[in-house]
Amino acid sequence: MLAITTKAWDARFKREGKIFEEPHEDLPLVVASLREKGARIVLDLGSGSGRHLVFLAKNGFSVFGLDNSRAGIDIAEKWLKSEWLSADLCMQEMTEELPYEDNFFDAVISVQVMHHARADVIKKIIKELERVLKKGGIIFITVPKERNQGKEFMQIEPRTFVPLDGPEKGLPHHYFTRGELRKFFGSFSITDIHLDSNDHYCLSGFKG
Ligand SMILES: C[S@@+](CC[C@H](N)C(=O)[O-])C[C@H]1O[C@@H](n2cnc3c(N)ncnc32)[C@H](O)[C@@H]1O
Repeated sequence: MLAITTKAWDARFKREGKIFEEPHEDLPLVVASLREKGARIVLDLGSGSGRHLVFLAKNGFSVFGLDNSRAGIDIAEKWLKSEWLSADLCMQEMTEELPYEDNFFDAVISVQVMHHARADVIKKIIKELERVLKKGGIIFITVPKERNQGKEFMQIEPRTFVPLDGPEKGLPHHYFTRGELRKFFGSFSITDIHLDSNDHYCLSGFKG
């Protein structure tokens, strides 16, 4: 039987610790663009073990992180503390209403997180991001292009797969096309979509 979970990363962080140490390759450019636009308050949706929280806090932003992994949040908290930095962290499902007021953030980043749901749920998450972002607020989102998890998998809807083995067993993975990304984020003004060196789509834009 197919057991779907949203918590596969919790076990990974418990087992493997930080996993990611360096920020995504585009983050220096993202930070430059945030500075240029005068952004101050930034949400990292699916903040994991904290590499972007640390990077953003070091760069002087007021940083919020949300993730459903207790282990990830704990590692991030320790990491921030060890560098004399801080962030407002929340352990929660990204699929629930986000615990922030309307028009609160200047920017939301989310690296390799939003594909972990079915298409209709992803659409709901995008609506929530729109709600919590200020007008003109910036988004930087990355998602994988190609199926990259599990030798065995089950397809549960068009372009959504659940690996039946490997470290992300049971966790849904939706694989976007460029056109679908444009459609899903259609309420935003998209300024760029490109592929990074890992063949992940990187979408930049702002709330118009
Ligand atoms: C590939 S990791 C990326 C972590 C982080 N963004 C980074 O780049 O280092 C995916 C992250 O998404 C989180 N995640 C997956 N499903 C989630 C959900 N339903 N709600 C909140 N976080 C989720 C995982 O716990 C994990 O931290």
